[in-house]
Amino acid sequence: MNCKDPIGVIDSGVGGLTVLPYLQRLMPHEDFLYLGDTARTPYGIRSRQEIATMVAEMTAWMEDNHIKQLVVACNTITVLGAPTIRGLHSFRVVGMSKGAKLALTATKNKKIGIFATDFTVSTQAHQKAILELDHTAQVFSQGCTKFVPLIEGEQFDTPELAAVVREYTDILKKDGVDTVLLSCTHYPFIKKEIVALFGPEITVIDPAEETAADALADLQQHKLDRKDGKGQVTICFTADLERGRRLASRVMDISQCRFKQVDLHSK
Ligand code: DGL
Repeated sequence: MNCKDPIGVIDSGVGGLTVLPYLQRLMPHEDFLYLGDTARTPYGIRSRQEIATMVAEMTAWMEDNHIKQLVVACNTITVLGAPTIRGLHSFRVVGMSKGAKLALTATKNKKIGIFATDFTVSTQAHQKAILELDHTAQVFSQGCTKFVPLIEGEQFDTPELAAVVREYTDILKKDGVDTVLLSCTHYPFIKKEIVALFGPEITVIDPAEETAADALADLQQHKLDRKDGKGQVTICFTADLERGRRLASRVMDISQCRFKQVDLHSK
């Protein structure tokens, strides 16, 4: 592994693109290679075995592309097993931050909500991380199955999205939370809509910036960080390149990015 090798970033689809700008901002000299499995998204409604098989294909592709670090910019894949990925490959692996400290710092009434995929909720990973730090906190987890298909399907500013955001925010409002973690990287695409319905008394937290800080600290610790270089970004999708490009432009400056469609089964 060489410090000039790129940092790989993976997600089931376009979700990890909400993390990429934080990574770029913190590490402007690094090259990034993004892979979104838009052909098979969403992952969060699938079984553990199905997700594991698809993740193995993505990480093998990253290995072939000689990355030095993999940022798992997907909570579902992170809770499925970032440590397992770490054991199978030579590159470094950093998962999504669970945001436990951020949430506990923000909350006043210690009632914390989690918006995540059904798979992530089923593992209780975020709940456990929060309770480990403060067992007096109360955690309310809400699986938001309907969000990802609407986001991947570019259904922004539609009555369907508005209704679904209302449905999920109402549930956590009834629970009395004052802080909510966005524990799926797709959800920052609709953070504005979520914040609007929660209102000013509920703090909405995206742990992407903390994840970027974790990635940089990991590289520095292993002397793999790069102090010069142009910071090239290549964004790959397994399907629908144009849709991916349009969605990317909603969350980042794509003027300097290269886009490519890739086939994970081409070997
Ligand atoms: N972006 C993902 C996450 O952070 C997964 C969404 C999905 O594929 O269901 O959990």
